[in-house]
Amino acid sequence: MGDYKIAVLPGDGIGIDVTAEAVKVLKAVAALDGGINFEFQEFPWGSQYYLAHGEMMPKDAIDTLAGFNSILLGAVGDPTVPDHVTLWGMLLPIRQRFQQYVNLRPSKLLPGIESPLRGKGVKDIDIVFVRENMEGEYSSVGGRMHQGTAAEVALQTGVFTRYGTERIIRYAFEVAQKRPKKHLTSVTKSNACCFSMVFWDEVFKEVGKDYPDVLTDQYLVDAMAASLILHPEKFDVVVASNMFGDILTDIGSAIMGSMGLGASANIEPTFKYPSMFEPIHGSAPDIMGMGIANPLAAIGSAKMLLEHHGEHNMAELVSKAIEQQVAEQKVLTPDLGGTAKTWEVGDDIVRRILASC
Ligand code: NAD
Ligand code: IPM
Ligand code: MN
Repeated sequence: MGDYKIAVLPGDGIGIDVTAEAVKVLKAVAALDGGINFEFQEFPWGSQYYLAHGEMMPKDAIDTLAGFNSILLGAVGDPTVPDHVTLWGMLLPIRQRFQQYVNLRPSKLLPGIESPLRGKGVKDIDIVFVRENMEGEYSSVGGRMHQGTAAEVALQTGVFTRYGTERIIRYAFEVAQKRPKKHLTSVTKSNACCFSMVFWDEVFKEVGKDYPDVLTDQYLVDAMAASLILHPEKFDVVVASNMFGDILTDIGSAIMGSMGLGASANIEPTFKYPSMFEPIHGSAPDIMGMGIANPLAAIGSAKMLLEHHGEHNMAELVSKAIEQQVAEQKVLTPDLGGTAKTWEVGDDIVRRILASC
């Protein structure tokens, strides 16, 4: 029950289409529950803004966003602007400046959807990925020397602090402890990365002593990638560094049946700063402007926004609407074998939500 100021950053490509549907769904939730009020403010930041102004978002953007309770983001990235410019100009600074150190990315197969994994059903795929979201391989520590010469060197340092590593692992243990299986898998590459990942493994063991009821195991990321495809049923909660978590969660979306289904939450758990909710997928230039992007990942992310703010009943209603729609198999976008347009999927979710009063 509350009033929420939501900053809406549709961004680029299909981010614009799917965010519109997520906003529609939150408006339906507010229409249903008189105790919830959303004040949305949309900002036209992204690659088009960059082409016009030379920056992805204004210099005071972070200060502006700090005044909101949460941020709803679509996607950032456009073929006409280098990706490192767009992403370091908008998405990554928001995650880092607002201490959104948890990236929560559930991967659950819904009834009615056929997983691309042979013989695997809904009981086999129900994983929550907890991705470290601020440091690791995504540091801007490094540089390029002797550029363009035969002696060129490029350095990209992975930064793993005790503070940052402990807090994400502890968060993951807390998530695992609340789930029936109470099972946490830590993913590293400590055979090759003999400093950072060996350190991660040590911290994982130390923090684990505080959670004796949680069953743990450790995987190397290469074997983990294979195991997610072959034996997804072995996993419950998975904690990984920023880069490994990024890669594994695209697998997580894929095994749900489509990139258009993977939702995510960039969480700052203390509420000192706004958290940000966005689909796992990107701006999908290959289908941009066609009106066929699946908005369910964005709508699922809006559901995670509701959960973050303690609006559990309404979050549950959105989940149910998604589950029913998918199970009925009538209003699906082409990635799920249907012919529906993006907005038709959003409208159908809204209809289901409003019908539940
Ligand atoms: P992508 O996730 O945009 O697309 C990968 C594939 O999945 C494409 O074939 C696409 O059509 C499909 N797909 C993605 N979302 C879909 C949806 N909702 N419905 C149906 N199909 C969907 O990955 P990419 O092509 O590697 O990246 C495109 C751009 O997006 C790049 O600029 C990249 O840097 C950026 N990106 C941004 C974010 C973000 O803003 N959070 C995330 C990932 C990629
Ligand atoms: C994601 C994206 C981003 C990431 C990119 C676009 C910087 O792939 O949210 O998964 O790697 O975090
Ligand atoms: Mn990614």
